[in-house]
Amino acid sequence: MKKHVVPVSEIGRARRVAAPERAVPATGVLLDRLSRPLTDLRISVTDRCNFRCSYCMPKEVFDKDYQYLPHSALLSFEEITRLARIFATHGVHKIRLTGGEPLLRKNLEVLVEQLAAIRTPQGAPLDLTLTTNGSLLARKAEALKAAGLNRVTVSLDGLDDTVFRSMNDVDFPVAQVLAGIDAAHAAGLGPIKVNMVVKRGTNEQEILPMVRRFRGTGVVLRFIEYMDVGATNGWRMDEVLPSAEVVARIAEEFPLAPLEASAPGETAQRWAYRDGGGEIGVISSVTQAFCHDCSRARLSTEGKLYLCLFASSGHDLRPLLRGDADDAQITSAIGHIWQGRSDRYSELRALRGPDTDAAAPRRVEMSYIGG
Ligand code: GTP
Ligand code: 5AD
Ligand code: SF4
Ligand code: SF4
Repeated sequence: MKKHVVPVSEIGRARRVAAPERAVPATGVLLDRLSRPLTDLRISVTDRCNFRCSYCMPKEVFDKDYQYLPHSALLSFEEITRLARIFATHGVHKIRLTGGEPLLRKNLEVLVEQLAAIRTPQGAPLDLTLTTNGSLLARKAEALKAAGLNRVTVSLDGLDDTVFRSMNDVDFPVAQVLAGIDAAHAAGLGPIKVNMVVKRGTNEQEILPMVRRFRGTGVVLRFIEYMDVGATNGWRMDEVLPSAEVVARIAEEFPLAPLEASAPGETAQRWAYRDGGGEIGVISSVTQAFCHDCSRARLSTEGKLYLCLFASSGHDLRPLLRGDADDAQITSAIGHIWQGRSDRYSELRALRGPDTDAAAPRRVEMSYIGG
């Protein structure tokens, strides 16, 4: 049966943000209710994608009748840059462009150039990166680097062409993504990370081929536990392959040693090949939640601020941008929102199981707020 199509803009019943009465000036450190600083902003630049990975944009839902955002709803590059500059004054020093597939947004390198000019209060440039499915990367890598992008993360769920084509569900060949990774490497967009979502029974047999392919190349391969994000992917716990098992399988062929986290709030646990072949990472949001120091905020394509990947509603900043609010008012508004944050979905899921209550508010899709 075909599922009812919910236009994405109605999924998140966003709270329209008004200019707050109490000022929250930027001090470079903004803490939420659990004392977590805001350091990382993920900006979705389009809700569209040319792939239909079943764990993210299943074909039955994201079909020709699906209503994507109209162009007028999207934040312009100038609006995004204005917000990013304000976020930097609050302590954000890492920006990730996501989608959908961000390289589908026209002239994305123009936005990259604007973001690359932003400085932290200490005068440092931001860590500016992008998550892509790699399909258009061979064509765009050089222009992105020239515009000031530091690095890229490429999603790749397997090396076997048949497995890969069925996972992206649009029959896209793996060779083109591998060419994209090579182009990113040649353009200097490193260190390159490759993210593989592992689904038990679907692509687990690709773990070791991926390891053999990327070991010793400088590419950091990371394995992601399949998550119950969004409301359309039909998630089941028995399709999650726990990271501990991924690590054990790899270590049988290539002994591993744990590495220290390279930054607080990091998503991945890092492991080094004992023989010096580089490192891998595992992102275990299901079996080992990492909410306790989550410093990530997400900005949707149309300007709603989400405080958690599993949120069901966001805070609509667009009326402020398109009204007559000045930078100080927007700074205060963002300050208030973050100071009120107590989200920690993955930790709560671990305590009381996944939120499957049909009456609960519908969670936003990952293709809408970005990975
Ligand atoms: P790097 O700085 O490059 O290491 O980025 P990152 O570790 O933030 O990783 P990336 O953006 O590549 O995220 C990898 C994957 O981790 C995403 O695609 C999600 O599946 C998952 N992920 C990222 N952030 C969160 C988060 O805040 N919560 C949860 N539950 N999962 C997340
Ligand atoms: N579980 C885990 N990761 C997901 N992604 C999208 N949907 C899911 C999910 N259900 C992540 C993948 C992909 C990125 C764009 O989003 O890491 O690489
Ligand atoms: Fe597109 Fe990435 Fe979602 Fe796959 S995971 S459908 S490539 S946005
Ligand atoms: Fe952060 Fe929410 Fe992910 Fe926890 S579940 S790490 S709070 S985004």
